[in-house]
Amino acid sequence: MISSITLNPCLDRTVYVDKLLCYDTNRILKVEIDAGGKGINCSRMIRELGSETTALAFFGGEAGDYVKFVLDRQGVGSVVVPTVSETRTNVCIEESTGKPPTTLNERGGPIEHKELVEFFERAKDLARESSYMVLGGSVPLGVNPDVKNVLVQIAKAGGAKAVLDADGDAFTEGVKARPFMIKPNIDEAQRLLGKTLESKSDVARAALQLSELGIELVIISLGKQGAIACYEGSIYDATTPKVEPKSTIGSGDSLIAGVVCGLERGLPIEDCLALGCAAGAATALSDGTDIGKKDDVDRLLPEARVTKIEVTKV
Ligand SMILES: Nc1ncnc2c1ncn2[C@@H]1O[C@H](COP(=O)(O)OP(=O)(O)OP(=O)(O)O)[C@@H](O)[C@H]1O
Ligand SMILES: [Mg+2]
Repeated sequence: MISSITLNPCLDRTVYVDKLLCYDTNRILKVEIDAGGKGINCSRMIRELGSETTALAFFGGEAGDYVKFVLDRQGVGSVVVPTVSETRTNVCIEESTGKPPTTLNERGGPIEHKELVEFFERAKDLARESSYMVLGGSVPLGVNPDVKNVLVQIAKAGGAKAVLDADGDAFTEGVKARPFMIKPNIDEAQRLLGKTLESKSDVARAALQLSELGIELVIISLGKQGAIACYEGSIYDATTPKVEPKSTIGSGDSLIAGVVCGLERGLPIEDCLALGCAAGAATALSDGTDIGKKDDVDRLLPEARVTKIEVTKV
């Protein structure tokens, strides 16, 4: 079973407007409400792809109840740690112009010490039942960024392969515990390494450098340019299917879901990366914070091409 961990889930409220007018009154055409947070998105795509998954998350108040309801409806198992603070609501504004969405994200939390202690206990239980444990997303108020390091260690101690998706200090701290897999996008990889990556060769060398820290699978995602991966000393260039993107929110989580589903099914790494890219592209095709649909993933999969490439170290 593949589990996911979300410290900072959210209720996503997407509002559609013709054109966003700042400092003026906007008429809303349509509102959609959904469950979100990186681990939760990842579990939803894993379920969409037909694998079993359980999401562990903090939930508080009515927004928390709603997120739990969405998971139940989609057949995603959940382990809930209740919080005194209300689950945050993130607002996404989508224009009819087709321009990228504007998002307004709450910080989330604060989390109390005893809530975090309970969370770690539930994570330990879940790790023992999981083949892979995906640790995704931001850290709420009241929780130290080294929480990702602790969670990677919990996953490994329970016998699960830890998959880390984070940014900033939380990412740096988590990487120190040597997860099985990381999936930064290019900006996150640049921040982690403290250098600019200008070409695909730079990205490939960066993936190799990160793998040498003891991370078995490093995937650096490049949006519509696909992804570069380093696995067992080899570098792979994954071309993503061409789509007319509507909103790429959640594409990274979908890429992780596809790759991890493939790994759990014992597929060769090339097929895992292709499934990841097809899932990421399917989510880029979907509106707002929606994740892609299985039919789109199946249709796009033959267009995802993965090739092994040579890289010279500098
Ligand atoms: N415009 C696009 N066209 C086709 N595929 C896309 C597009 N955007 C993203 N993808 C697919 O999704 C994968 C992940 O996307 P991206 O690199 O944007 O992740 P991300 O920045 O981590 O996203 P997020 O954190 O918002 O989920 C890419 O490697 C690619 O396969
Ligand atoms: Mg991401």
